[in-house]
Amino acid sequence: MNGAKTAISRANIALVKYWGKAPGNENLTAVPSLSLTLAGLSTRTRVRFDPGLDADRVLIGGVPAEGRPRARVVALLDALRARAGRTERAEVVSVNDFPTASGLASSASGFAALALAASAALGLELAPAELSSYARAASASAARSVFGGYVALLAGAHAAEPVAPPDHLDVAMVIALTTLGPKAIGSTEGMRHTEATSPYYPAWVATAPALFAEARRALLARDLETLGASMEQSTLMMHAAMLASRPALVYLRDATLRVMERVRALRSQGIAAFFTMDAGPHVKVLVERAAVAKVAAELGQVPGVERVLVSEPGLGAELVDDAALEG
Ligand code: DP6
Repeated sequence: MNGAKTAISRANIALVKYWGKAPGNENLTAVPSLSLTLAGLSTRTRVRFDPGLDADRVLIGGVPAEGRPRARVVALLDALRARAGRTERAEVVSVNDFPTASGLASSASGFAALALAASAALGLELAPAELSSYARAASASAARSVFGGYVALLAGAHAAEPVAPPDHLDVAMVIALTTLGPKAIGSTEGMRHTEATSPYYPAWVATAPALFAEARRALLARDLETLGASMEQSTLMMHAAMLASRPALVYLRDATLRVMERVRALRSQGIAAFFTMDAGPHVKVLVERAAVAKVAAELGQVPGVERVLVSEPGLGAELVDDAALEG
């Protein structure tokens, strides 16, 4: 297709969490985060600018996007159009390879792929940090999916930065998908609610930097035990702040707690496995590679776990040959 560019980007899981915005309207983060980009869970996005279009056309998973999801895509396209000095509208076709209705986040891989495909389709050759900054303005976690492996997004930073390559640790991520409840409150809204109403939010913001520094040091030293301890404390501190909101923001469900218990039990048997939960009920477990099959099998037995996925550490966003995408 004429002038079309296609990019692929993968989900990332925060080992140390981002939850909360810095003051201002730039979508800068209040706390530093540290993530692992995965090899699976990818988004493939094709963008084509067309002078014949009178509005941006956005198809996600074959369905026309509307409302806020569409507005977020158009805002990113507008920013890139302004940068390129162009005005044509775009056709955006995006597909996830995530299991349907899994409830896994797609905004990170989605906006990183969109930033890369759209900038390339406009003829812009942006450095990775610039791409990351555009992706971050759309969704802060997307800044991290621009890079592969272990990635940091510092508090107030415009762009994420790579910390260590995908093969730095001998690990994989085991993802336990639990039964989905009613539609959860999205991250942006959830964090604004926490900021506004949780008496624990200031404590979260005050203590997150030290936890991030500890995790980063442990990662660089390949100290999986310490990294895992700071990882679990980060997610639990974030959920503590959410739980203390009014009305309470409760993302964890019974199956979530059972998986956490099972991970702890596996650890007591000498297996290096550490959990983290985002704004949803699923549990992502960082596991030493030698124990991945055993952990995946065990978590699959936990009541309320619907499905278990295993994902290796993966690469950053990349342009790919324009493949036939089903609109
Ligand atoms: C719990 O990046 O989705 O997954 O910047 O408002 O789009 P916006 O939020 P988003 O938040 C992700 C929150 C998290 C933790 C993390 O990924 O660091």
